[in-house]
Amino acid sequence: MNKYFHSITSALVICGFLSCSAPDVNETSPVESGKSLDSLVAGVACAYPDAARIGAQILQIGGNAIDASIAVQWALAVCYPRAGNIGGGGFMVLRLADGSAATLDFREKASLAATETIFQDSLGNIIPGKSTETLHASGVPGTVKGLYEAHARYGKLPMEKLIQPAINLARTGYVLTETEAEKLNTNKEVFLQRNLVETPFTKNEPWQKGDTLVQIDLANTLERIRDNGADEFYHGETAKKITAQMGGCAGCISIADLAAYRAVWRDPIVISSDPYEIISMGPPSSGGIAIGQLLTMYFDCIMEPLTLNSPNYIHALVEMQRRVYADRSKHLGDPDFWDVPKESLLDTLYLRSRMDDFIWHQATSSLSIAPGQMPIQYESTETTHLSVVDAEGNAVSVTTTLNDNYGSKIVVEGAGFLLNNEMDDFSSKPGEPNMFGLVGGDANAVAPGKRMLSSMTPVIVEKEGDLFLIAGSPGGSTIITSVFQTIMNTAIFEMRLDDALAAPKFHSQWLPDQIFVEEGRFPVDVVDELENRNHKIVEIPSLGRVDAILANGDGTYQVSGDPRGDNTASGYK
Ligand code: DON
Repeated sequence: MNKYFHSITSALVICGFLSCSAPDVNETSPVESGKSLDSLVAGVACAYPDAARIGAQILQIGGNAIDASIAVQWALAVCYPRAGNIGGGGFMVLRLADGSAATLDFREKASLAATETIFQDSLGNIIPGKSTETLHASGVPGTVKGLYEAHARYGKLPMEKLIQPAINLARTGYVLTETEAEKLNTNKEVFLQRNLVETPFTKNEPWQKGDTLVQIDLANTLERIRDNGADEFYHGETAKKITAQMGGCAGCISIADLAAYRAVWRDPIVISSDPYEIISMGPPSSGGIAIGQLLTMYFDCIMEPLTLNSPNYIHALVEMQRRVYADRSKHLGDPDFWDVPKESLLDTLYLRSRMDDFIWHQATSSLSIAPGQMPIQYESTETTHLSVVDAEGNAVSVTTTLNDNYGSKIVVEGAGFLLNNEMDDFSSKPGEPNMFGLVGGDANAVAPGKRMLSSMTPVIVEKEGDLFLIAGSPGGSTIITSVFQTIMNTAIFEMRLDDALAAPKFHSQWLPDQIFVEEGRFPVDVVDELENRNHKIVEIPSLGRVDAILANGDGTYQVSGDPRGDNTASGYK
């Protein structure tokens, strides 16, 4: 038995004892919560205050980081319906205190009856809205399987203790923040149009900050899952409700699709850039490879020290991103269906050659950049992120999504949860942009049982072999650049975590050939200088909402939720 397996087995033995004796979360003393906390020995950062508090309480009663991340995800499925989910999917990156790492893929899959041209009409034109607004938009959900899979391998407390706080939240209700009340009001007409029966998300009067939102059907669904396990979702009454909702539409989720769904442990992408090591998600996420390419390009090709957010810094990163997103469009897809040339894409010589034509004084036109030629084929607007660390130093980084805000906005009748519209992450037709403006081709074409390419980028960073940073973000195609800038701000520019998250961000992605900048946050002379180099600048309200944890190096942590949203830190000292 190897050392790693041995430590897991011992943990399970201890868990057996703890699971009987651990109190429920509501019996514990209060944990600290806020936007940004320091000197915590264990903590959580995520998108909504109730979920952050629940995660911290799980840590406090003896749950490990994996337990807390699971409890947070159940809770977000209730109190953050925009992106928290049981009808969607995601990725988990974890690093245990002994330094071992693992990544879990619980991304949605296309139905076994889906076809490459499912989103095109008979003339080969894309059918507007089909991949985003209809029952066809939903991939087979992976979250419930993912949570049970992670728990079976690493969980310490029993699943009932992890799901119960979410059941309580659904049954008695949770209090809306101003932003959430506003989002529900904005989407009211769409909820009414796409659902034949009343959903908990609309009412006659507009929602106000402080209103309580109760979800009885969802509470009942979560209780059935608590009592019957993941089988409830994939084989039981919930599976029947999902397929009843589909009404037998061709290419939509079937009983066979649900029964066949599996979450998959995949090899992490590990990028070394001394003294840092970045652990992230491989395909079907594009995040790990993209971050690896960006880091290598930065350290290998940009040979001079740059000032944060100066014209030279933004220019260099944009030129790198142009090339990285071009590669993404051609070479990345579900590794079970497409030979992703991982080693070639991350090869230093290849990345140097990609930057050969980089010049300082002029933007390269994206039209002149094509996806890179692979030397050798080796063998083969809503998401949410949570970061967790426990007192042992186990770390978890999870990004999960329904894709758009509230996914397809279709609620499974009688089951109370929203379905994803993740099918839009496939390339519906080669060269045609999806909702994030991303283009793709064969590598990411729809195929039966295939996973759609993702930009979700949960990361864990080590410094000199010790845990340094846990981070991730929502934001579709902008996730990769938000996470990359967070790594740069903390690792290279040595900022405190709250400052690193508050710093202004920018984004570019090859096509469209533009730089998106957070409005009013970059000085006029910086913007002017970039325009002089032929960059097209577009202002947008905000970019990314990063939830992260930064190690202080003395066994304590800074834990921060992004200042751009309701994101919250919670934990104890
Ligand atoms: O997996 C992806 O890349 C997208 N479905 C993520 C969507 C997203 O981040 C929307 N959020 N703001």
